[in-house]
Amino acid sequence: MAPLHSLIAALCIFVSTVYTSSESLNRRLSNGLAVTPLMGWNSYNHYSCSPNESIIHSNAQALVDLGLKTSGYQYATVDCGWTLPARAADGTITWNPALFPSGYPALGVFIHGLGLKFGVYSDGGVQMCMTGTPAQVGSLYTFASWGADLLKYDNCYSDAATDYPNVNYAPSVSPEARYANMSEAVLATGRPMVFQVCDWGVDFPSAWAPALGNSWRISNDIIPAFRTIARILNQAVPQTSFAGPGQWLDLDMLEVGNNVFTTPEEQTHFSLWSIVKSPLVIGAALKDTYTAISAASLAILKNANVIGYNQDSLGIAASFRRRWTDEGYEIWAGSLSGGRTVVAVINWNNVARSLTLDLPDVGFQTAGTIKDIWNGISTTNVVTSYTGAVQAHGTLLLELSGTTAAGQYAISDAVVSGNTATFSRIYGATASSNYTLLVTFAAASSSAITVTINSTPHTLAAHSTSLTTTISLSAANDNTLTIASNPLPASITITEPPQAFYPSTSFALSGSSTRSTCATGLCQPVGSKIGYLTPSGSASLSITAPSSSSAGSKFVEVYFCNNDIAFSTSWTTGTNTRNMTISVNGQVTRIEVPLSGKSSELFSPGLGWEDTGTFGVLTEGWVAGANTVVVGNVYGAEGVVNYGADFVGMGVYW
Ligand SMILES: *[C@@H]1O[C@H](CO)[C@@H](O)[C@H](O)[C@H]1NC(C)=O
Ligand SMILES: *[C@@H]1O[C@H](CO)[C@@H](O)[C@H](O)[C@H]1NC(C)=O
Ligand SMILES: *[C@@H]1O[C@H](CO)[C@@H](O)[C@H](O)[C@H]1NC(C)=O
Ligand SMILES: *[C@@H]1O[C@H](CO)[C@@H](O)[C@H](O)[C@H]1NC(C)=O
Repeated sequence: MAPLHSLIAALCIFVSTVYTSSESLNRRLSNGLAVTPLMGWNSYNHYSCSPNESIIHSNAQALVDLGLKTSGYQYATVDCGWTLPARAADGTITWNPALFPSGYPALGVFIHGLGLKFGVYSDGGVQMCMTGTPAQVGSLYTFASWGADLLKYDNCYSDAATDYPNVNYAPSVSPEARYANMSEAVLATGRPMVFQVCDWGVDFPSAWAPALGNSWRISNDIIPAFRTIARILNQAVPQTSFAGPGQWLDLDMLEVGNNVFTTPEEQTHFSLWSIVKSPLVIGAALKDTYTAISAASLAILKNANVIGYNQDSLGIAASFRRRWTDEGYEIWAGSLSGGRTVVAVINWNNVARSLTLDLPDVGFQTAGTIKDIWNGISTTNVVTSYTGAVQAHGTLLLELSGTTAAGQYAISDAVVSGNTATFSRIYGATASSNYTLLVTFAAASSSAITVTINSTPHTLAAHSTSLTTTISLSAANDNTLTIASNPLPASITITEPPQAFYPSTSFALSGSSTRSTCATGLCQPVGSKIGYLTPSGSASLSITAPSSSSAGSKFVEVYFCNNDIAFSTSWTTGTNTRNMTISVNGQVTRIEVPLSGKSSELFSPGLGWEDTGTFGVLTEGWVAGANTVVVGNVYGAEGVVNYGADFVGMGVYW
């Protein structure tokens, strides 16, 4: 098998996170439901574990009256708090008649009467979350007889070994078997019921839940604070490839409309949940005695373009592509049907500004049309990059169509004057004199012709239609290339230089840092990693630039491990990132990496801390000859965690 880094180089240097296992081969539940992510409403985010009949009636009615049902929101789910503490005489659990005087069967009839679907909630423990209910085994046929169309199955009070605490994020037994039992029981009812696995990401359910349910929570709960958005997205980074038609990563219910986020923040939240193909479950009070959702939030929830990305027939979850840490923005992108692509540029900074998407960062050179959704603008014939206004904490959400592959430029992209073509929006990810330029002509000529490229003459051989040479580009989106020849070429193709990989095994340790060997197949492509990177512990290497290399900014791909899942800190600091610093001849670049773990943190041999992720970043300070490179976490004392991510290796694009 080819080493990972050469595969990555062969693909595209701008895909910043690449993993190796093939999720699609895993068994998947096929119940014909939630073929596109489910859309609906749930009582929890606004009403917590205190739903009641009038709340459910008025909100279900509002789904219809506000046009949300027409937009696709079909399921109305009553979350925790609906039951009586004791079981009925026949052993089933039942509704609390003080809260639901007409009863659950009547509630099902009411919801179905509105043309909606009825979602019920239960828990695989001895109590439901925050209520006093005993175990629920035996209640499923009751749910089915009440006309339930969806079961959300929670994970509180479920760990027998520790005497059933409310939550245990590190149980001695995986939740999988309990969810497998319930999945089978749901199928056995014979009633089509969406099964939502809700174990908050304990034991990495992406690895097993696709066989059992239609969606599974990947993380601890969303909270009413904007930092929750980054935490949940960071957790999704290594998992997006597990999503597909009928099985979706559940990023948790929406906070849109709960008056906790600004409008741009709600747009960011809704955009990303949509394109990562999370279920879209409204968690706001749409309508009750005291509350009505605002027009601005309603407009976000009903945006037909964004809903269309979520419900797209390809069912591909957008993935993380690139992050500019200090600059405070990042890019996610995913394919849509019809040859389109959706791209989100998230502005994490608390100021409005313009942000630029360089199309090659998502694999393209030109786009026939870019629809800028939240700005309400459409632009045609976009070459190399697109710049748009974005609010504080907002997102530039772009739909690209009619795209061409990165590095491909047609003669029509150039300004032609006589026999000279000037291409002016040439993109370089890294400063290098080793880009490959392929110049292609429409037809061969019977004799050799001279092709002058940036003032240097080259020869196109007789009877040939193309010539190849190397060119220099700086790390910018506005390099210029001139080609003079008669005839002019039809097109040019520019390919990035290859990556030279420097494994952590060739770095020297200092201070707190330590080297550890990883389980077979993990810490790819090296098999070991350096950990305990702190302000007083680093890894260093003298790297000699190839003689052809130009000095300046180099695109570097950092191979790292981070499995700092923020289970218990979700409610407070809320970060699951880790910092790293890369110093080149003393010039420090800080990166804040997302999670890379895609194994269970509890039961797999690598404990998730040996799964490699890659993070692409432009680093400054490279010179000809020897370069002192130090990988560490020099600002660790200023952060939440003193330790950096673990370091596996580094690829440099010379
Ligand atoms: C249902 O909840 C609403 C809103 O909190 C409240 O006004 C109403 O009194 C509740 N009804 C019952 C029966 O508890
Ligand atoms: C699954 O169901 C079987 C049969 O009812 C039961 O014996 C077993 O304990 C259940 N497993 C779990 C983990 O709940
Ligand atoms: C330049 O790129 C070519 C392939 O594109 C590669 O074979 C060669 O090693 C590179 N040279 C340097 C000095 O990196
Ligand atoms: C990463 O560094 C930044 C800047 O020093 C800091 O604000 C942040 O808390 C750090 N992150 C962690 C996980 O320590």
